[in-house]
Amino acid sequence: MIRVSQPVTGAEELDALKRGLEMAYFGHSANVVELEKALADFLGTGERPVVCVNSGTAALQLALACLDLQPGDEVLVPSLTFVASFQAITAVGAKPVPCEVRENDLLLDLDDADRRITPRTKAVMVVHYAGNPGDLAGLYAWAKERGLRVVEDAAHAFGSSYGGKKVGSQGDMVCFSFDSLKNITCGEGGALVCPDAESARRAGLMRGLGMQRPQATQGGPPSRSAYDVVCQGWRYHMSNLNALVGLEQIKKAPGFFARRQAIAKRYDQALAGVPGLALLPMDYDQAVPFLYTLRVLEGRRAGLIEHLRGQDIETAVNYPPNHMHSLYQGLTNAPLPVTEKLCEQILSLPMHGALSDEQVGFIIEQVKNFLT
Ligand SMILES: Cc1ncc(COP(=O)(O)O)c(C=O)c1O
Repeated sequence: MIRVSQPVTGAEELDALKRGLEMAYFGHSANVVELEKALADFLGTGERPVVCVNSGTAALQLALACLDLQPGDEVLVPSLTFVASFQAITAVGAKPVPCEVRENDLLLDLDDADRRITPRTKAVMVVHYAGNPGDLAGLYAWAKERGLRVVEDAAHAFGSSYGGKKVGSQGDMVCFSFDSLKNITCGEGGALVCPDAESARRAGLMRGLGMQRPQATQGGPPSRSAYDVVCQGWRYHMSNLNALVGLEQIKKAPGFFARRQAIAKRYDQALAGVPGLALLPMDYDQAVPFLYTLRVLEGRRAGLIEHLRGQDIETAVNYPPNHMHSLYQGLTNAPLPVTEKLCEQILSLPMHGALSDEQVGFIIEQVKNFLT
């Protein structure tokens, strides 16, 4: 089976894990701090601190917790996203307000979001679907005019650039995921890039159960002798073992990105103009694709999925819209017809660094065989 997503790791990650196990500091320790520095350098975050945590979901939750939302405060969010975006909002007691995405690129539709703003709206969470950050300057101008904070769910967009600068190097709260399938992996992990030192200090406290130690844990094993608890927190710190894997992956990131971009360009070239397909308009010189998602029109998606499965090619539908889940059905009375139409069309083809040229060629051939 050609998998739709899969991690790429090698001897370097195995060696790093062995070193980590031998060091016997598995919690938040020196290598987590090292990874935070490496991420800051890689992304060019400058004064914007990076805080590593144990998942992208935790990064989103802590980013929202830094905004001091009150129960019932509302956060605009596209319905078409992984449920982690929604769970992070409800985890801090706020209300997700599901919004439409644009039909062509699956990014938040700001005109629709505008119509859903109420006096309780405090923030907007955008999702860089498939790795596409969209028009960030336009988004921030829009949010500023409306007095909204911005959380970028950049789980798909590690390595993507906007205006020649990496996602995370500018903006408000920017959250990444390093789970097993992402553009780089820590095994499991995530990070948030904060706009200032104070948010980073608070996020750092909250990831460690709100415990403040007299001596910071930087550069060595944490002092367990004394601590005070100063705020609500969660056990969201990144393990040193995961950080060691991340440190190896970040060295390989340029190669991973180039491979993903080359595969996406090849798909684009081969599938443009195939009847019944609509491709996402992405610039693969700027964006690093986490997914290669397209739209299958004319009700042919189920047949295509079946055909590809028969050829041992796995596909995925990213994602079932959140406003249709049992938990979230009551969130809105306003319909989301575009999202509901899209959820019948979207399909993700295999996209990962372990795909060979032959496999990509075979996938293209099989898609074309079915549709033409
Ligand atoms: C859009 C989006 N947001 C958030 C997450 C959560 O990341 P994690 O799996 O690291 O918790 C994911 C993970 O797939 C995602 O796709």
